[in-house]
Amino acid sequence: MSAPTVKVRGLYKSFGPAKVLDGIDVDLAPSRINFIIGQSGGGKSVLLKHLVGLLEPDSGEIWYDSRQMVGRSRHDWDALRLKMALLFQDGALFDSMSVGENVSFPVWIRGLAAKEEAARRAKERLRELDMADAFNFRPSDLSAGERKRVALARALIMEPEVLFFDEPTTGLDPLLSEQVDELIKLTLERTGATLVVVSHDIPATLTLAHNIAMINNGRIILSGPPEVFRQSDDPAVRQFLAGEAEGPIGFLD
Ligand SMILES: Nc1ncnc2c1ncn2[C@@H]1O[C@H](COP(=O)(O)OP(=O)(O)O)[C@@H](O)[C@H]1O
Ligand SMILES: [Mg+2]
Repeated sequence: MSAPTVKVRGLYKSFGPAKVLDGIDVDLAPSRINFIIGQSGGGKSVLLKHLVGLLEPDSGEIWYDSRQMVGRSRHDWDALRLKMALLFQDGALFDSMSVGENVSFPVWIRGLAAKEEAARRAKERLRELDMADAFNFRPSDLSAGERKRVALARALIMEPEVLFFDEPTTGLDPLLSEQVDELIKLTLERTGATLVVVSHDIPATLTLAHNIAMINNGRIILSGPPEVFRQSDDPAVRQFLAGEAEGPIGFLD
């Protein structure tokens, strides 16, 4: 697999009486920045957990290129996940380990290389993100922006072909949000991977995304490049954009 096309077809998921995914159809393009947007509580993270095999749908299909993954064994998912990276909002670094140990962790925990080789690769990834000097630091010694870089270096050490970012800028100040947006662009340039960004940050979405898919009431109500969203007359789309886009962009004017 190199940067795969990811296709979701007719994905349904309920938790008890709550229908969260009500027939999701979406295509995520290879080597592109694909955004999934929608209201908080709308099912974005639930969709993402299906894409990485952490949740099993009630029905539907998830295709990675020509491989349909729903119903596959844990072994098949584990093999696929070797080529995936998932970045949560807080980066989830281990404070008890040095930066270098954090970044090399995914390699040596799987026994894929000796510690020395894992450390060498970690240094390389850190250098690419201008963080080489932090190798022996603790995450707690770093600024929030630096920790983001380290978390990204750790995600990149396995040379993933699909990267998932769940709300990477939520709760960050504008300056740090911009840095994270830059990191996402840089990640695409460096890896050519399929990037999937879950967000409700509308300005970032409209500037960064190649493709956007919007979830509403458990379905994708609109998908396409940012222009399609700017031009949409759909009340749910306009309301969402207007509600979230108070800021310097003013694209609704
Ligand atoms: N494991 C779970 N069990 C029960 N309900 C869940 C579970 N995970 C998510 N939900 C519910 O699914 C809905 C969508 O959640 P989520 O995907 O996290 O929304 P968001 O779009 O903000 O990421 C929410 O109502 C949430 O409470
Ligand atoms: Mg979420």
